Amino acid sequence: MSSHQSPALQFSNVHYTIDDIAILHNVSGCFPKGKITALVGPSGAGKTTLLKLCNGLLSPTSGSICVNSQPIDQFEPPQLRRHIGMVLQNSPMLKGSVYDNLALPFRLKGEQLTKEEAVNLLEQTGLQRSFLEADALNLSGGQRQKVSIARTLGNQSSVLLLDEITSSLDRTSVQEIETLILRLNKDNGTSVIWITHNLEQAMRVSDYLWVMMNGQVVETGDPSLLDSPANEQVAKFVKGEQS
Ligand SMILES: Nc1ncnc2c1ncn2[C@@H]1O[C@H](COP(=O)(O)OP(=O)(O)OP(=O)(O)O)[C@@H](O)[C@H]1O
Ligand SMILES: [Mg+2]
Repeated sequence: MSSHQSPALQFSNVHYTIDDIAILHNVSGCFPKGKITALVGPSGAGKTTLLKLCNGLLSPTSGSICVNSQPIDQFEPPQLRRHIGMVLQNSPMLKGSVYDNLALPFRLKGEQLTKEEAVNLLEQTGLQRSFLEADALNLSGGQRQKVSIARTLGNQSSVLLLDEITSSLDRTSVQEIETLILRLNKDNGTSVIWITHNLEQAMRVSDYLWVMMNGQVVETGDPSLLDSPANEQVAKFVKGEQS
């Protein structure tokens, strides 16, 4: 990470506890601005919990999170969700057309999305304008993920949080979504935090890597660290002995 640029997100000594159970323990580290950071680790490590802290869906029990060097609790929640978009494994679609789904974030802001603007959002994700009137509940998995990404484009989010967004897709759709996210990162400078169970995908797409285990960050750095992990637990995880 270049030293003159503030990170998109900075965690400092973040703890997150539910019912006296420590889910996240002393998490510190940064997500570089304009880069793609892959977040990997075994199931139950705390990855999704950490992602939800990034856009204020959850708040830390202690410690601090800064967005663009500003404490996260200084942002209004709606402003934060627009600035930091989130796409999930099976993105929920509302009953109605694709247009209705794309227009929703605008309606919530009291604004209108024109058909042409909606087509523009769709086309940025590689979907044709004919999809605008399609029933959102009948889309294929890959199409649904693209519409979900198009929804975040409407908000002009500068940070994208991705939680296993390709894990239920076929190979072609995985490639299309990877290409799309890499292009958004390159063309718009969008910072991306991408949770994936697929370490090959992590190596393919990311500039920076976080490895989490048991609610802690055990390694951060260049994704190539997965080739020869310093940490014994991480080495086992990479070999597939712990997933
Ligand atoms: N609301 C909750 N109440 C109690 N425990 C929770 C809650 N949310 C998460 N946990 C626990 O916190 C731990 C971390 O969960 P989290 O969903 O963040 O893991 P993850 O790394 O995303 O796992 P996966 O790869 O399976 O999605 C798990 O042990 C989970 O059971
Ligand atoms: Mg998860």
